[in-house]
Amino acid sequence: MLRFDILSIFPEMFRSPFDASLIGKAREKGKIEIHLHDIRDYAEGRHRMTDDYPYGGGGGMVMKVEPVARALEAVVPDRDGAIVVLLTPQGEPLRQGLVEELASWPRVVMICGHYEGVDERIRSHLADREVSIGDYILTGGELAAMVLVDAVSRLVPGVLGNSGSPVADSFSTGLLEYPQYTRPENFREWKVPDVLLSGHHKAIEDWRKRESLKRTWRRRRDLLEAISLPEEDRKILQSLILEDEQDGP
Ligand code: ADE
Repeated sequence: MLRFDILSIFPEMFRSPFDASLIGKAREKGKIEIHLHDIRDYAEGRHRMTDDYPYGGGGGMVMKVEPVARALEAVVPDRDGAIVVLLTPQGEPLRQGLVEELASWPRVVMICGHYEGVDERIRSHLADREVSIGDYILTGGELAAMVLVDAVSRLVPGVLGNSGSPVADSFSTGLLEYPQYTRPENFREWKVPDVLLSGHHKAIEDWRKRESLKRTWRRRRDLLEAISLPEEDRKILQSLILEDEQDGP
């Protein structure tokens, strides 16, 4: 069981994504728990302000430190067994390795940043990690937190059921996945490759390996540089690089 706690000024954004699909089922089955916390509930004053003007001037508003600190203290008083993640475009880029690391914690607490930025003391004193889901700017950390919950949850034992195994997919092998087909065999003359219909297991396995390598070579050479391929795979890769140079796509 993994417990997520999400601190946000828009907790209502999370309801329907977390009720639907595999995440909804995982919650029903008790494999994960998701607790939403409204940062505004921890803000003081008549207006319960969660943002304020930046010291030093300039445009935009800055997320205040006190409501976030109070929310965290209420949600994880001793922080035992919990990792606190701030979602921000300035964070460490989210990759499968980091997803796996987060999935190993019993509790993942997320702070969704907002406005033009967050008070620096939130990052330096309250968060254990800062995570970005990609090099683009969202209106807030909420969608990033949803991405994180989704990616981490599918690694929790029992969440995927029999709809897939997280070990075999792209990024765990380091390669992109091979093309998949299901019925019909022929749709508008767009045909399933013969080898997949052959029943010849070794030939199918070889074809899939080759297609995986080809796709990764064509689309994501950076991934190939990050792994060490077995000798056999390097040979296959060499042969398809030659083929590629001769006849393109
Ligand atoms: N908040 C705004 N943009 C973000 C991003 N790319 N990743 C994480 N949090 C964000």
